[in-house]
Amino acid sequence: MLRLESVRKTFNPGTANEVRALAGVNLTLEPGSFTVVIGTNGSGKSTLQGAICGAFELDQGRVFVDGIDVTGWREHRRAHLVGRVFQDPFAGTAPDLTVAENLALASKRGGTRTLAPLLRGARRAEWRGLLARIGLGLEDRLDDPIGLLSGGQRQSITLLMATLTNPKVLLLDEHTAALDPRSAELVIGLTVQLVEQSSSTTLMVTHSMRQAATLGDRLVAMHRGRVYLDVSGPEKRRLTEPELLALFSQMRRDDRFDEAACELVRTQYR
Ligand SMILES: Nc1ncnc2c1ncn2[C@@H]1O[C@H](COP(=O)(O)OP(=O)(O)OP(=O)(O)O)[C@@H](O)[C@H]1O
Ligand SMILES: [Mg+2]
Repeated sequence: MLRLESVRKTFNPGTANEVRALAGVNLTLEPGSFTVVIGTNGSGKSTLQGAICGAFELDQGRVFVDGIDVTGWREHRRAHLVGRVFQDPFAGTAPDLTVAENLALASKRGGTRTLAPLLRGARRAEWRGLLARIGLGLEDRLDDPIGLLSGGQRQSITLLMATLTNPKVLLLDEHTAALDPRSAELVIGLTVQLVEQSSSTTLMVTHSMRQAATLGDRLVAMHRGRVYLDVSGPEKRRLTEPELLALFSQMRRDDRFDEAACELVRTQYR
């Protein structure tokens, strides 16, 4: 279970660059649930995920993972509880290390064991099995540097790495946005498979309204650092891609209205 209570975060407070990224977010996600997060650029989606994994200190509010108050925990201390995959396929893995070494690093996340024993024997067989299921022939590339693989192949492995230790929370931040359509489909298929198998509470950010309409059991729309819409159950299942596109346009219009209002204020001071 994941709970956020009155979470607030302002970047660069008191300066000309002040940004209120999270303006009081309350959210409770059930264990094993799969929530899709949408919202316009700058609405606070990535900051929300940053608050969960401990990327920065909150100004206010609390974060609970499985009932444990992790608000004061630094990112590395939360690492065994929270897995995260970013948009950039090159962000989550060490390019010079082999596929096997990257998987070994991921499987000792939050632990203190050395890599060497993990690289031998049973673990390799287990990884071969996991990689074979992806269907990209990666099971034969355990000893290749991961930097040689394509974006889609790397993102598939990053996803596997993030779920390897069965974290309580899995955060996916537009993790298919940088991939070609075929690779994106493949990674989404793998996502669905891994989320179904795991007991992780999953929060997936996407700009694809098709993904938002078809995936997950709950949909949260962020707008200006707040939860704008939150639907689940039958209501979520009934949501269609055109309806979500309309909602998105509405949120964009609201963003523009803000700009227009700012411009009006500016002209008064000219
Ligand atoms: N480290 C930071 N320092 C300063 N400002 C930041 C920082 N991180 C985010 N912001 C600002 O906070 C606001 C929310 O950003 P965030 O990255 O959460 O948006 P987002 O919804 O993920 O947008 P996108 O769809 O473009 O990824 C933005 O205005 C952004 O510029
Ligand atoms: Mg973002």
